[in-house]
Amino acid sequence: MNAKNLEEDGFAYGPIVLDHFQNPRNAGQMSEPDYVGEAGNPVCGDRMRLFLKMSDGKVTEARFLTFGCSVAIAASSILTELVQGRTVEELGAMRNSEIVDALGGLPKEKENCSVLAESALQSALAAKG
Ligand code: FES
Repeated sequence: MNAKNLEEDGFAYGPIVLDHFQNPRNAGQMSEPDYVGEAGNPVCGDRMRLFLKMSDGKVTEARFLTFGCSVAIAASSILTELVQGRTVEELGAMRNSEIVDALGGLPKEKENCSVLAESALQSALAAKG
């Protein structure tokens, strides 16, 4: 999919969103994760699964599987970068506003798509606890 396709959903996205959607980081399964979380958006049905591996109390690896819109994929991708090196306590404090900021902002109507990533993260932490 290219930038032209992205504009066809009626929204204009910034370069960071486009980059993470077109070249997602850390996509795929993880074997023997320490944390696994899953979340769904009840409105559209999109889903995300997040895998985390920890070492010395900090995230050393993160991967994701997302079936969703361009923003859901971009948010999943950038989340796997944002969580690197964070402790469980720091992860628990993460909110989708940080994801939105890291993506360089989102159209107001699409900010909810980034909640999917926050929810998958919090699900992973809850499942472990
Ligand atoms: Fe479903 Fe974006 S439209 S998460």
